[in-house]
This record gives sequence, structure tokens and C-alpha cells, in this order.
Amino acid sequence: MKIALVGYGKMGHMIEQAARDKGHVIVCTVDLFAEDATCITNDTSQMVQAIKDSGAEGIIEFSHPASVMANLTALIPLRLPLVVGTTGWKDNLAQITEQVEQNKTALLHASNFSVGVNLFYRIVAEAARLVSQFDAYDTGLFESHHNQKVDSPSGTLLDIAKKVLENMPSKKRLITNCSQNKPESDELHLASVRVGSVPGTHTVWFDSPADTIELTHTARNREGFALGAVRALEWLSTSGLDNKPRAGVFTMDDVFSEL
Ligand SMILES: NC(=O)c1ccc[n+]([C@@H]2O[C@H](COP(=O)([O-])OP(=O)(O)OC[C@H]3O[C@@H](n4cnc5c(N)ncnc54)[C@H](O)[C@@H]3O)[C@@H](O)[C@H]2O)c1
Repeated sequence: MKIALVGYGKMGHMIEQAARDKGHVIVCTVDLFAEDATCITNDTSQMVQAIKDSGAEGIIEFSHPASVMANLTALIPLRLPLVVGTTGWKDNLAQITEQVEQNKTALLHASNFSVGVNLFYRIVAEAARLVSQFDAYDTGLFESHHNQKVDSPSGTLLDIAKKVLENMPSKKRLITNCSQNKPESDELHLASVRVGSVPGTHTVWFDSPADTIELTHTARNREGFALGAVRALEWLSTSGLDNKPRAGVFTMDDVFSEL
């Protein structure tokens, strides 16, 4: 498949390698500054023209939260399968969904493309469903990341928390800040630490007076994100179960639900 990359930073370069390893061809790389990009521009119409000229059959966007909305608005009318890894735009999901539907095209977004993390979401959901049948267990969540990360808790921990809330009726609310009170039994406590170079560790505890069940996902590096983004574009470019080209807004949940 011929792929265009928008945002040619750390992730863009890793995605290029992962895509090449799977036999794809990177036909266009767009960036604001990266000297090795094939198109260096801050003008979205130049970006669109470069992608059209390249003959790309799909696009992967990993740029910057400040750029992503303008990029998506310009890229969607190209009507190419579009995978978005940039974070920080989900407040505008309804607007993007409307544009995708108007253009009858397909977009897939995820705050975490790692195959392992997406497996972990499903493992946690099933574990929470099972554990919720036993009153003795309380639940809490923890994550650690490198000290360059600006947001906390991580989007991934919030997604894990969502899986717990959906499957554990006794938990109804999240506490993400330091609590000055002991938590109510229906509160799910999330904690974050920023330290050193940790690529990302997420833990779920199910704790009873007798024992603890601890589930942990530990990222070793960012390769899992790159590989997951390429797999997502491959999936988005295949026909759906109805044998028609996929159309609409998808997440990694949709990819995994077809496994
Ligand atoms: N969803 C996931 O699994 C996942 C994983 C890792 C990173 N991310 C997100 O991906 C984004 C990029 O991460 P990174 O580590 O590659 O960052 P990075 O800073 O290394 O690279 C981002 C690149 O995008 C370029 N850029 C900025 N605005 C642009 C624009 N308008 N057009 C083209 N290029 C533009 C920058 O010049 C830079 O080279 C961040 O938002 C990060 O949080 C998501």
C-alpha cells in the first residue's frame, strides 16, 4: 500500500520503518520542520496537493495537538483511509464525525495504538466483569510515565478506567487528583507518577482482605504504537463484514472486535 505520513517526528519515523517492514511504501512525508520530509510546509493546501501528487492510498497523521484539527479538516475531503494518532482533539470528535460522514470516507483514531494495550483493555474488561461478582474486592488504577509527559492521568489510564466502570457496577466515579478524604466505595481511584524515562506502565489492582490480583501492562518502547497504527490503516483499507469499503469513524476497539 502507498502511504502518506503527516507529522514526520519520532512517531512518523517509527511508523515509516514499521510500514516498510510490512511491505508498504511511504510515498509522502509532510512536516512543519523535519528536513528529511518530502514536503515541508505549514500550509494545509500544499500538504493536500503533495499527498494527491504522491498517489497515496492511505494517510497516517501523528503531528501535534495544536495542528491536528486543521490537518484533519484538510485531509478528510481527500477521501483516503485516515489513521489519526495525535492526541488532544477529542472535544471536537462530533465535528470530525460529521465531516467524515458528509465525505463518505473512513477515519480511525486511538489514544493508544499499541496492540498489547488494546489486548490489555479487553483483559481488564473481562477481569472487572468477573471480579465484580465478589463483594470483597476493591479496585484501583496506577500509571507511570517519563518526566517529559505533560498530561496526567494518561489517556490510556482513562480508557482503562472506562472499561472498569462499564464492567463493575459498584464503581461509579473517578478520582484522579490527590484525595484528602478516604474514598467512597463507589469511587475508583487513579494515580499517576512522572519519573525518568518510563515509556508507560499501567496497573489495575483488584484487592480483597485475603489477596491482590494485579494486572500490569509494561511498554518497552514505542514500536508497539507504530506497528498498531500500520495495522489500523491496513484494517481501515479492507472491506467491512458487508463487503463494502469501510465508512465512518472507528477506533482500535473496532479492529479488535473483528479478531
Ligand atoms: N495514539 C498513540 O498511540 C500515540 C503514541 C505516541 C504518540 N502519540 C501522539 O502523536 C503525536 C506525535 O508524537 P511524536 O512523538 O511523533 O511527536 P514529535 O514531536 O516527535 O513529532 C511531531 C511532528 O509533527 C510535526 N508537525 C506539527 N504540526 C504539523 C503540521 N501541521 N503538519 C505536519 N507536521 C506537523 C512536528 O514538526 C514534528 O516533527 C503526539 O500528539 C503524541 O501524543 C500518540
